[in-house]
Amino acid sequence: MTVALVGAGPGDPDLLTMKAARLLAEADIVVHDALVGDGVMALIPDHVERIDVGKRVGRPIPQEMICTLLVELGQQDLRVVRLKGGDPFVFGRGGEEALALREAGVEYEIVPGITSSIAAPAAAGVPVTHRGVAAAFTVVTGHRRPGEPDIDWRSLAKVGGTIVVLMGVTHRGSIAAELIAGGSAADTPVAAIRSATTDHEDVVRCDLADLGHADIESPATIVIGPVAAFDLRDIRTTLATAD
Ligand SMILES: C[S@@+](CC[C@H](N)C(=O)[O-])C[C@H]1O[C@@H](n2cnc3c(N)ncnc32)[C@H](O)[C@@H]1O
Repeated sequence: MTVALVGAGPGDPDLLTMKAARLLAEADIVVHDALVGDGVMALIPDHVERIDVGKRVGRPIPQEMICTLLVELGQQDLRVVRLKGGDPFVFGRGGEEALALREAGVEYEIVPGITSSIAAPAAAGVPVTHRGVAAAFTVVTGHRRPGEPDIDWRSLAKVGGTIVVLMGVTHRGSIAAELIAGGSAADTPVAAIRSATTDHEDVVRCDLADLGHADIESPATIVIGPVAAFDLRDIRTTLATAD
């Protein structure tokens, strides 16, 4: 049967695609990540088996084990959903899983999801592009992997537009310092959105120079650029969060 690599969106089950909801309803087994929202998990019928392969601090699950599991499940007569937060191909390692399935001759399909790199800014009322303000946005990881080249933040500062950083909470101070060293203004607006579209959503706004000391917890998406000064949330949301 087929393995569906499905994006679960940023958290709010209303932001799940209709195809993802249908595949969850029809699944025999769901292999899911830690960042899949509770509301989305609640849509999985009770009789469906769930396997949590979420990588957490102190409990890293090697990606190769997840790939092997998907291949083994895909070789059985099962409808398998591999459920990942956001979009499977945006820092989701969906590419590695698709390659493993392809090499094993297991049929698979990709079901895109709304990535946090656009959903989290939107939740804070931040448009990642805006005519006359930002003509581009760059999505980049702030996570450093031993043995892999670090992002050239100084060059990125020269690209202009909006910088959207995922997995950047730990190194936010050095990221800010590198961007400023590359030419970004110290007073460039920043919006950091934690757990966007969930009950734990929290938005922190500051200047780039203050990013290293800002009180930001994971999982957060950090938006850097003039658009981060915008708050275009609808008027009811803005009033409700003003207190
Ligand atoms: C391994 S990456 C996965 C990204 C995911 N595939 C996507 O498209 O959104 C995990 C990072 O995504 C960001 N993230 C995921 N869900 C989020 C949310 N609900 N609110 C804010 N940021 C989120 C955080 O930066 C987190 O550290």
